[in-house]
Amino acid sequence: MNPFKPPSLNTLLLIIFIITTVPAGNSIGVNYGTLGDNLPLPSQVAHFLKTRTIIDRIRIFDVNTDIIKAFANSGILVSVTVPNGDIPSLTNPRNARRWIDTNIRPFYPATKIHYICVGTEVLHWGPQNLVDNLVPAMKVLHSALVKEGFDEIKISSPHSLGILLSSDPPSNASFRPGWDVGNLAPMLEFLKETKSGFMVNPYTYFGYSPANANFCLFKPNPGLFDKATGLTYTNQFDQLLDAVYVSMKKLGYPDVEIVVAETGWPSGGDPANVHANPVNAAAYIGGLMKKVNSGDGTPLMPGRKFETYIFALFNENLKGPSLDEKNFGLFRPDFTQVYNVGIMHAALAPSPSPIAATSDAPSSSGSRWDDAPFFNKTTPGQAPPASSATAGPTTVNTNVRDSSLGSTTTNVVLAARLVENNIPDVVIYNILRLVMFIFCTIDAAL
Ligand SMILES: *[C@@H]1O[C@H](CO)[C@@H](O)[C@H](O)[C@H]1NC(C)=O
Ligand SMILES: *[C@@H]1O[C@H](CO)[C@@H](O)[C@H](O)[C@H]1NC(C)=O
Repeated sequence: MNPFKPPSLNTLLLIIFIITTVPAGNSIGVNYGTLGDNLPLPSQVAHFLKTRTIIDRIRIFDVNTDIIKAFANSGILVSVTVPNGDIPSLTNPRNARRWIDTNIRPFYPATKIHYICVGTEVLHWGPQNLVDNLVPAMKVLHSALVKEGFDEIKISSPHSLGILLSSDPPSNASFRPGWDVGNLAPMLEFLKETKSGFMVNPYTYFGYSPANANFCLFKPNPGLFDKATGLTYTNQFDQLLDAVYVSMKKLGYPDVEIVVAETGWPSGGDPANVHANPVNAAAYIGGLMKKVNSGDGTPLMPGRKFETYIFALFNENLKGPSLDEKNFGLFRPDFTQVYNVGIMHAALAPSPSPIAATSDAPSSSGSRWDDAPFFNKTTPGQAPPASSATAGPTTVNTNVRDSSLGSTTTNVVLAARLVENNIPDVVIYNILRLVMFIFCTIDAAL
């Protein structure tokens, strides 16, 4: 018999079936905030994330050396943040170089430092002095990194969606005048030249109303129809990202990668906020993980992937003043899950349990501004206007957390982690069965 006889159609179909049913490796980033007096040690956190979860990248809101060191040789990407107050001094090349010598050089590349986020939501919160120095500081820091030979580390800066004038419908979105040409165009040009990502912090939680609950939570709903494009939006996350995309495109930068530096939903909150509960948090985070790992993209960006960082890793008891702020965590300080949405390795995850109610929000209320002295609760002149509550999904400008503290990136799935962590035994068993079946079929065909 001719050993080179091509495989039969059945065999081909089977092979295709196998290839398309091997699950893609799921991964996700988280923001590791530290405003709690009961949080585990960074070394415990690094070990836990590496061995028990699909989390493959973290973002911190400062340059905490204990955390950076703890993630050395963990394979987990770490993004760090330049405190807002340091921005003006970093426009000086000598200071930028010193900053890197102090905060990066001792730890890199043992710790895979991925992004240096320059400030947090600087345009939104100001003051003007920081806004004016933001892009110059990013450029000087980048040059300093290149000089050191660290040019794999990217520079970016996360934005609240207060940078948008409107987001409803997405086709009519644009950046706020003043920031658009003055700050965002130069920043996007820099990000394009350095192949870095544009970071945004979309929160559908803050666009919530009872009428658009399902739209905010990735649940079935009639959707939002955009007449100009003929596209229907089935969730607010897509709407917000497409609004960012349209705004970027209007400035001439449609191709710069978009990074979701922060997004989340609290599992508990002030009594008035009944929508802050573990059921909704699980619906949102579950829908988000499915969305970003599907690779489906959005209506205007089909097939695009977005490196995504959930806010936040832990419930942080010193945040506030609202209870909502203390309850954004995926985990309690003792590493128990607040709700189960597949963050644990499939093989190791406990059997799906009913969603645990969270009650670990202590009453102590520290200053929410501890990590971010420049965040003022009152919005500066250019900040978003009061939300225009309409019957449909709300406009984008409400999707702003008023105490954003932290976050960063998610794209590279390490093949090793994929194999090790993300394919349940049952799938492997079925693949083996199929492979054996193929051999039998080929054998029979020959
Ligand atoms: C488009 O946005 C502008 C500015 O926000 C607004 O004035 C206008 O009414 C919007 N048009 C549509 C069709 O929504
Ligand atoms: C924050 O607000 C306080 C008082 O409301 C003010 O004195 C301070 O200058 C503000 N800081 C910034 C960075 O805007």
